[in-house]
Amino acid sequence: MILNELILSALSFVSFTFAMDLDTSSKESICGATSLIIKGMLDYYWGTQYGGTVGMFQPPYYWWEAGEAFGGMLENWYLCQNDTYADLLFDALTAQTGPDYDYIPQNQTMVEGNDDQCIWGLTVMDAVERNFTNPTEGPGWLAMGQAVFNTMWSRWDAADCGGGLRWQIFTWNSGYDYKNTISNACLFQMAARLGRYTGNNTYLDVANDVFDWLTGVGYVNMDNAAEVYDGADISENCTDITKYQWSYNNGCMLGGAAYMYNATNGSSIWETRVTQLLNGAKAYFFQDDIMYESACQTAKTCNNDQRSFKSLFSRMLGFTSVLVPSTRDIIDPLILASAQGAARTCNGGTDGHTCGLNWQASTHDGYYGLGEQMSALEVIQNLLIHDRPAPYTSIDGGSSEGDANAGLNKTSKNVLSNDLDIKTGDKVGAAILTAGVLAILVGGAIWMLF
Ligand SMILES: *[C@@H]1O[C@H](CO)[C@@H](O)[C@H](O)[C@H]1NC(C)=O
Ligand SMILES: *[C@@H]1O[C@H](CO)[C@@H](O)[C@H](O)[C@H]1NC(C)=O
Ligand SMILES: *[C@@H]1O[C@H](CO)[C@@H](O)[C@H](O)[C@H]1NC(C)=O
Ligand SMILES: *[C@@H]1O[C@H](CO)[C@@H](O)[C@H](O)[C@H]1NC(C)=O
Ligand SMILES: *[C@@H]1O[C@H](CO)[C@@H](O)[C@H](O)[C@H]1NC(C)=O
Ligand SMILES: *[C@@H]1O[C@H](CO)[C@@H](O)[C@H](O)[C@H]1NC(C)=O
Ligand SMILES: *[C@@H]1O[C@H](CO)[C@@H](O)[C@H](O)[C@H]1NC(C)=O
Ligand SMILES: *[C@@H]1O[C@H](CO)[C@@H](O)[C@H](O)[C@H]1NC(C)=O
Repeated sequence: MILNELILSALSFVSFTFAMDLDTSSKESICGATSLIIKGMLDYYWGTQYGGTVGMFQPPYYWWEAGEAFGGMLENWYLCQNDTYADLLFDALTAQTGPDYDYIPQNQTMVEGNDDQCIWGLTVMDAVERNFTNPTEGPGWLAMGQAVFNTMWSRWDAADCGGGLRWQIFTWNSGYDYKNTISNACLFQMAARLGRYTGNNTYLDVANDVFDWLTGVGYVNMDNAAEVYDGADISENCTDITKYQWSYNNGCMLGGAAYMYNATNGSSIWETRVTQLLNGAKAYFFQDDIMYESACQTAKTCNNDQRSFKSLFSRMLGFTSVLVPSTRDIIDPLILASAQGAARTCNGGTDGHTCGLNWQASTHDGYYGLGEQMSALEVIQNLLIHDRPAPYTSIDGGSSEGDANAGLNKTSKNVLSNDLDIKTGDKVGAAILTAGVLAILVGGAIWMLF
């Protein structure tokens, strides 16, 4: 007995030390590593736990982060060609789509922002472009993506700052007067992807408009190395810009521009923009070719949301290297060095393969959580991005049924005109909740400045 235990603990020490050997040139090794990482993600998944909710991770992980996490797992399904979690993904995506199939499920209406809805929108577009099994009843993934796009675009607000989406969907949430970059950058990308997939130029026109607004208002600065800031309040006509740069904001712009480049058969305007955004990505979010969340990681102030941003950022770099072939030589080495860095930190926790936050550290740095897991997942699996077909379009591989008017004919509650019948107490609760989030976001960020 005692001897056995000794042997076991010696063994676990060994596996601790060599937890995640990653042979970056072997699909088997890459997919073996990502299998372990996903297992760690699912420790936080509520949907398979007693009394839990399908499609939700347990607190403190917000609904939006679940959308981001399933996007990473869907890519893993595609890149590793492994069906193990296909049903789990299908169930999550259909459970959270909501009564109008637009990713405004009733449970989230108190707190959901445009950015939250849109991150799920990106995941459903992934399902479209990767030809993930469609629901047999009701709208297909494409119609759901169109519903996300249509409902967001219908909220475009020309009354302040010459356009743009507000952060919040609902007036009672604080942050309603803030127009943030991620909501708009994500809408830009949804439009670009729908345009490329369907071949319908109306989407590309919208993408152009959103892009022009983001640069016009100064949230995105198209220098040689483009800066992508956080957003601004409408009170000063969006001129008092919060100048933090987050990797997922850059990623959404870069990915969107890459889809635009590809959808326009390689327009030189979009090629220049991709180059500028990629230069910015490289300048602000990498050190020695290893990715990091510069605005909070070194200062050790990243909150739960921010600890997941490298995940979406990695996904976008991967897409860009495929859709704009000339960027491959720049992006592949960044993915490679970052994947190796990430894998070296996946030797923490009681399981011996929990991933950390700081990929420059050569071992686990003490941070752990859903964000750390999914960031490591996405950067490592992007080593395989060139081994599988590029995102499909409706004429070369995709099969999802669309509906150009999806989401515009609400049958349940009128989210478009923002007049849900909700009790005042709930509104106050929601306002306090988002005020808290805002305070932490802004407070944390301001603290970093000094
Ligand atoms: C597929 O994924 C599961 C769960 O991650 C893993 O256990 C299994 O080994 C994988 N299959 C292959 C062929 O890699
Ligand atoms: C909504 O919340 C209730 C109560 O927590 C839960 O039972 C239900 O599964 C949730 N539905 C969705 C779609 O998340
Ligand atoms: C407000 O900002 C928009 C976008 O930058 C600009 O077009 C508009 O002229 C500004 N309005 C005022 C009153 O400054
Ligand atoms: C791109 O090329 C295809 C095929 O030649 C053509 O049908 C399409 O109209 C082009 N798109 C744009 C935006 O130029
Ligand atoms: C668009 O992406 C595909 C898939 O990677 C690629 O083959 C094609 O060359 C790209 N188009 C342009 C104009 O670069
Ligand atoms: C996409 O899915 C459809 C329906 O399952 C299938 O018929 C088609 O062959 C798939 N396309 C590709 C490229 O695998
Ligand atoms: C193209 O998309 C727009 C915007 O959703 C829609 O109004 C229009 O009907 C679509 N055109 C076609 C041919 O599907
Ligand atoms: C919108 O919904 C109503 C009521 O369900 C229906 O009669 C109408 O045909 C729908 N319109 C569209 C454009 O789908």
